[in-house]
Amino acid sequence: MNVKVKKGDPLKQKTPCLVLGTFEGKLRTPLLKEADRALGGALDRAIRAREFSGKQKETLLLHAGKDIGPERILLIGLGKEKGAGAERLRQGAGQAVGALQKRRIASLTFDLASLPLGRLDFHQRAHAVVEGLVLATYRFDRYRTEDRQELPPELKEACLLVEKRTQSEEAEQGVAGALSLCRGVNLARDLVNQPGNIKSPEYLAGQAREIASAGGLKCTVLGQKELEKEGMGAMLGVAQGSIREPRLIILEYRGGNHDSRPVALVGKGVVFDAGGISLKPAEKMDEMKMDMAGGATVLGTMLAASLLKLPINLVGIVPAVENLPSGSAIRPGDILTSLSGRTIEVLNTDAEGRLILADALTYAKRFEPRVVIDLATLTGACVIALGHHATAILGNHDGLIRQLTRAGEQTGERLWQLPLWDDYAAQIKSEIADIKNIGGRPAGTITAAAFLQKFAEDFTWAHLDIAGTAWEEKGRPYTPKGASGVGVRLLIDYLRQVVPARS
Ligand code: BES
Ligand code: MN
Ligand code: ZN
Repeated sequence: MNVKVKKGDPLKQKTPCLVLGTFEGKLRTPLLKEADRALGGALDRAIRAREFSGKQKETLLLHAGKDIGPERILLIGLGKEKGAGAERLRQGAGQAVGALQKRRIASLTFDLASLPLGRLDFHQRAHAVVEGLVLATYRFDRYRTEDRQELPPELKEACLLVEKRTQSEEAEQGVAGALSLCRGVNLARDLVNQPGNIKSPEYLAGQAREIASAGGLKCTVLGQKELEKEGMGAMLGVAQGSIREPRLIILEYRGGNHDSRPVALVGKGVVFDAGGISLKPAEKMDEMKMDMAGGATVLGTMLAASLLKLPINLVGIVPAVENLPSGSAIRPGDILTSLSGRTIEVLNTDAEGRLILADALTYAKRFEPRVVIDLATLTGACVIALGHHATAILGNHDGLIRQLTRAGEQTGERLWQLPLWDDYAAQIKSEIADIKNIGGRPAGTITAAAFLQKFAEDFTWAHLDIAGTAWEEKGRPYTPKGASGVGVRLLIDYLRQVVPARS
């Protein structure tokens, strides 16, 4: 999308559509009154007919006459003034995209200056609006070869309006930042939306190599032989049911001091999870192509961090495997020896995410990370606990959890903490090995995290279970159906808070 910032009077702009944000019940602003006069009272009539009141999700499109610049005016409801912030603006911008795409309008002018959001400066306004516009415009339609004219035209051009020079400088920075960030989010979405037949572990490795050359990162990929040499028995165990070989993908970004310890991001990369010998039911099994969403988020975040030139060091680690049943697959009851040396009794081959993450977490130690954050579509129990509205967060460091939770509030990618008391570890004690990979039905998300905790005990660590948030079923204002790309905006927001530390 081509986005520019312009200084000028909204009602004088030559544009197919001028977009104005409004608060619920606050429709008598000077600008709206002036617009109403130019529209011959059409806005006032629509309000009196209760067609629009400024509630969230409402839009009102009015055609303008020749007395003013814009061909149309689109009002978007931002809801109640109280508590309004960047998230409302993202959603409002997303709604504008929805309303205009339906009508095949491919260009808009969004007035930043009249937005009734005094708390947000012009960097923040522009950032939020561009996030909303770009993320709402995303779609995955590359495999639709027929009837492409039925697809709504993409929003191609957006102009953001400001009143003063200083505002346009702020806004330009916001635009540039949001465009880089959204490249990371939409890359993650693309990877998750790709079908399983396309995205082998090697495909993900190839994508990582491309990110590395786009962003000046170092990329290392370990194949079957190297994983064997390292002794990554847990990851190899999961991979052995598929003819597609596993890959351990490592991306390193160095934007900080050469001696500053990195933040490590670890993402589950199960390119397809059939469950293995503990086979999943057929219904909705297709959705398990999204079981590499944690890995996709790590790759998207690495790209965004490098485009944004964040002043920190980062390492992204993605164990990529496929979990299939076959004559060579692991069996329930098998015991695997992990990279850490710990033995794991595999009682359910469908609890595979924690196995590959165990080895990836141990591998992360060699980077001496100051913080480790893992992301995974780890448990169905998480969807039962929190539904699709929040990612579960668990960890061993309250300060880290607080920082991430705050980033979640700011980005609209909300987190909710679950407890990780020692008591839960009893559920994953094995009789014949060091640990077992399932803890029974009670607190499935927590026992999965308790398993990971054993492999993260040397770290300041947090685990995000994105099982309920990685895939959007219905479509939300700036999240179309399918892969959500959840976590990229959250992590970047968190990483911006991380001071470039020396130790
Ligand atoms: N990838 C799944 C979890 C999942 C389920 C993600 C639904 C997204 C939506 C994971 O590998 C899995 O199968 N977990 C099992 C664990 C169980 C066997 C202990 C589950 O949640 O049923
Ligand atoms: Mn599984
Ligand atoms: Zn899985």
